Amino acid sequence: MKGKTILIALTMLVVGLLATACSQQADSTLAPATEAPVEPPKVKVSGSVTDGGQLYDKWWKVAGVDEPAEDHPLWATQDTNTRSGKDTWRCKECHGWDYMGAEGAYGSGSHFTDFAGVFDASGMSDGELLGWLDGSTTGDHDFSVMGEEALGSMVTFLQDGLVDLREYIDYDTKTPLEADANHGQELYDNTCTACHGLDGRSINFGGDDDPEYVGTIAIGNPWEFAHKVRAGQPGTDMPASIDSGWSMQDVMDVLAFSQSLPVEAPGAVSVVSRGGRLYDKWWKVTGVDEPTEDNPVWARQTTNTRSGKDTWRCKECHGWDYMGALGPYGSGSHFTGFPGVFFAQDKSLEDIVAQISGNVDPDHNFSAMGEAAMTDMATFIREGQIDMRDVVDYGSGIPVGGDGANGEELFTSTCVACHGEDGTMINFGSDDDPEFVGTIAIDNPWEFVHKVRAGQPGSRMPSAIDLGWDLQYLIDLLTFAQDLPVEAP
Ligand code: HEC
Ligand code: HEC
Ligand code: HEC
Ligand code: HEC
Repeated sequence: MKGKTILIALTMLVVGLLATACSQQADSTLAPATEAPVEPPKVKVSGSVTDGGQLYDKWWKVAGVDEPAEDHPLWATQDTNTRSGKDTWRCKECHGWDYMGAEGAYGSGSHFTDFAGVFDASGMSDGELLGWLDGSTTGDHDFSVMGEEALGSMVTFLQDGLVDLREYIDYDTKTPLEADANHGQELYDNTCTACHGLDGRSINFGGDDDPEYVGTIAIGNPWEFAHKVRAGQPGTDMPASIDSGWSMQDVMDVLAFSQSLPVEAPGAVSVVSRGGRLYDKWWKVTGVDEPTEDNPVWARQTTNTRSGKDTWRCKECHGWDYMGALGPYGSGSHFTGFPGVFFAQDKSLEDIVAQISGNVDPDHNFSAMGEAAMTDMATFIREGQIDMRDVVDYGSGIPVGGDGANGEELFTSTCVACHGEDGTMINFGSDDDPEFVGTIAIDNPWEFVHKVRAGQPGSRMPSAIDLGWDLQYLIDLLTFAQDLPVEAP
């Protein structure tokens, strides 16, 4: 860093000297024509392309200098874009996310200023670009407050970082001209989910009432999306795809996938899926201590010999199909004789919460999960249960009328990233007794359907309820999953 600063300082000195030389030259215009022509100033800067890309946005955040308070002096030369203050200092506000200014995406709409782009400036020399940025070319176009190091990176970005987005994005439909969304999903899952979540909604860039997610930016402003994915986001750890060696095609693939992500706030519907996960190991969902003793109600039966925390899972007494002893838990090692909760869906939220909190039966007390969780749980019972008989034939355990080909598509787009092509990437069992997606689908289709709908407690597995899948999707997916291998590869 220091070396770079010195280099810039030195080169600026050279510019200064040369400028003096030039003015002297200008004074002696009558000098003999034989004299050698004056070399253009050879300014050399060095800097980081990705730093420069981030500076193109809110450069004060990257350079660590005070943010501008007044309007940019050139702002007054236009009156169509009515923003004010620091926004008027962002390069992108005048020159566009696509670097084309008024010739590009900012050629109309609320961002229109009629200012030119910077795309054609990529061929300029270091000295020419520095001249534009430090105000020596046009006094009002002065960004030298960002400091020499930042100016160096800004120049580097302008020379090496610009791309012609017209070659990649259809400006009318705002979609990539060519893209492989499946590949995009792979890249997204490996690179973006950690921060933005599987569906791009873990971080809200907007407000509560007007949320903006990855999907929102991808659909609304693919140019901004491309710029930020390439250069990273100022002031955050978001990686820059330029540094990861992604091609522009990779960026377009992620854009195509991101355009399929939801843009609506996850509303009541995700309370339902959370309730579904609470129905399983609720302590993993809420983060409270797991129970150690048997549930007091457990003593009312002797047929199911499990003990400890398992006796607190709703599913252990009420079944994966919500039918209790009327369903598959009517026999076998899980048999308790306890009733289901399916018909409780007709009760009021208050009545169900009263049941879960021990107000009806003091032994049936799950208040350790907390008030909010009990309400979510009750919401699932009222709104989230399905009649599993519409999905699975209880006699054979085979789904009713599924389309395996459609199921394979769903599996490829939604499950492969974590469970692998054939569902054996995660082993839920042990080395000696492995359990894969195929195993659960065949041995316990009710558990399969419940978990696919609600998601798996304590994991990032998506919820089909939140994805808006209907019953037929579940039937199709189950049909395909029952054909997956059950042996270790
Ligand atoms: C307030 C609006 C505004 C802002 C903010 C702004 N510029 Fe400019 N910029 C202009 C205008 C106007 C021109 C002159 C265009 C012309 O007439 O050729 C210009 C010219 C340029 C040029 C020369 C382009 C060419 O092809 O001759 C470069 C390079 C440039 N700006 C880079 C930047 C960078 C980098 C930033 C951010 C640090 C920035 N500008 C911020 C308005 C702005
Ligand atoms: C290390 C965490 C992290 C990773 C990984 C990450 N991001 Fe981000 N991203 C952020 C943060 C933090 C923000 C800024 C949020 C804010 O400004 O409110 C952000 C902002 C964004 C924005 C701009 C939102 C806006 O309006 O300013 C987009 C688009 C985006 N990310 C997409 C992606 C994509 C696509 C990937 C994967 C290629 C990715 N991010 C990877 C943390 C990350
Ligand atoms: C140890 C076994 C057991 C566990 C675990 C269990 N229940 Fe129950 N549940 C029962 C029994 C037995 C009844 C009926 C008798 C009673 O009310 O105590 C019942 C009744 C209910 C009812 C009323 C059903 C109706 O039709 O009126 C609801 C609702 C309910 N349980 C929800 C849950 C929820 C939600 C969980 C998980 C947080 C859960 N139960 C965990 C044994 C259990
Ligand atoms: C983000 C990663 C991820 C995705 C995507 C994902 N899962 Fe999972 N899934 C997991 C994890 C982690 C587990 C828990 C493994 C464990 O408990 O050992 C799991 C558990 C399961 C289980 C239950 C295993 C058990 O016995 O508890 C099933 C069945 C399952 N997944 C099926 C699917 C299906 C079908 C899809 C696609 C619709 C899917 N998963 C998508 C990560 C994922």
